[in-house]
Amino acid sequence: MNDQAKRRPRKPGKPYRRPQKDPVRILAFEALRAVDERDAYANLVLPPLLRKARERDEGFDARDAALATELVYGTLRRQGTYDAIVAACIDRPLREVDPPVLDVLNLGVHQLLGTRIPTHAAVSASVELARVVLGDGRAKFVNAVLRKVAGDDLDGWLEKVAPPYDDDPEDHLAVVHSHPRWVVSALWDSLGGGRGGIEDLLEADNERPEVTLVARPGRSTADELLDTLGEDSAVPGRWSPYAVRLAEGGEPGRIDAVRLGRAGVQDEGSQLVALALANAPVDGPDTKWLDGCAGPGGKAALLAGLAAERGAVLLASEKQPHRAGLVGQALAGNPGPYQVIAADGTRPPWRPGTFDRVLMDVPCTGLGALRRRPEARWRRRPEDLEGFAPLQRSLLHNALESVRVGGVVGYATCSPHLAETRAVVDDVLKQRGGAELLDARPLLPGVPGLGEGPDVQLWPHVHGTDAMYLAVMRRVN
Ligand SMILES: C[S@@+](CC[C@H](N)C(=O)[O-])C[C@H]1O[C@@H](n2cnc3c(N)ncnc32)[C@H](O)[C@@H]1O
Repeated sequence: MNDQAKRRPRKPGKPYRRPQKDPVRILAFEALRAVDERDAYANLVLPPLLRKARERDEGFDARDAALATELVYGTLRRQGTYDAIVAACIDRPLREVDPPVLDVLNLGVHQLLGTRIPTHAAVSASVELARVVLGDGRAKFVNAVLRKVAGDDLDGWLEKVAPPYDDDPEDHLAVVHSHPRWVVSALWDSLGGGRGGIEDLLEADNERPEVTLVARPGRSTADELLDTLGEDSAVPGRWSPYAVRLAEGGEPGRIDAVRLGRAGVQDEGSQLVALALANAPVDGPDTKWLDGCAGPGGKAALLAGLAAERGAVLLASEKQPHRAGLVGQALAGNPGPYQVIAADGTRPPWRPGTFDRVLMDVPCTGLGALRRRPEARWRRRPEDLEGFAPLQRSLLHNALESVRVGGVVGYATCSPHLAETRAVVDDVLKQRGGAELLDARPLLPGVPGLGEGPDVQLWPHVHGTDAMYLAVMRRVN
């Protein structure tokens, strides 16, 4: 018997099959890679990728774009949960899996556990994607892992991979609601209360926020916007008389009033901050307003419109010249006088005691806007707080220097982290003196659940806004 005859008969080779190209999933994969490799922001990388896909492929339609967006945002938001599930399905540590392989896996897990895509379609589309972007060998690995994942639904997996709540509440919530543990702790410290509230907040962070417009005073009104858009496309804001909420899929770029700057895109929480500052009682004249951290100009545009209605002038100041340029664009067309400058708010060029009203909306970790930036929660580190701390204190200190006695200062962050909110206000008031905290709650009439005061904290799960913080102070000497 010759050697040939001794060999087991070979199975007939599989006919070579060219991997099927799936532009939606390839695009989603490219976006995830850009976020991981280049520290890109999903909301910035996606639009050009979608545009290119439309230019390349006439068949790439709005539904494809919506699916690609959902896959990218959903995968990034739920990354913590999906990583834990994948880790339970492989026999090596997660860190030893190449990041591109993990991206394909997490995209697949999201389709299986976070969408209504049928199981067989989710697995086969992910394996095809793996064949195209990773090669046949790794596609087999992807296939094996996703078949295990498909063996249970999300609740079943969470039972298996999340530690019991009673053993470690924060770890449990971190895995179930896909937030880093330190972020869960920080949000809970600020929110207080029991399990229900924090769970609602963490889930709200995983929802896609509505797009909200602001009708800029003197340039448009919410009623005009609502009339133009029609009731199927927009509804009034919940709290701000200037707000209009777009229905799902509404594209602000197609709205004339937005293109012409008569309205802008602005979360209602940001509108409330500007409105509260404008509502705060000042003793004496009320003609000179300052926005000391104005870029890109959302709050400045609203403040400038309100200032114009009262015969006041807004100075919008921003350190980064290109962001000062954006402020200029947002304010162009304002019905009253205003000025935009590029200046460092910690070394202001204006004389102390110049202004009647000052807003300091300081740079921060952005932990209150996690709904908008799906990758931010994974990128932020607790050490970032230390980086912001001196700047936040210096900006608030200088805001108090800039306002005249009897005038008011609003200190705002888009983070509820106590180290960026109350701790800053308390430290600066203690160290500098000469200012008193005002109760900010009556400045937001009709808005419930603002906390015990005197500062206010908005929450996505309570107000449907970003978690904006505002403390209002009056300078007393
Ligand atoms: C949270 S954002 C302000 C958002 C803005 N109020 C709005 O509603 O569009 C903080 C801004 O402060 C700016 N900034 C950072 N350091 C600054 C400084 N030392 N002086 C003034 N602005 C500064 C940042 O460039 C950023 O544009």
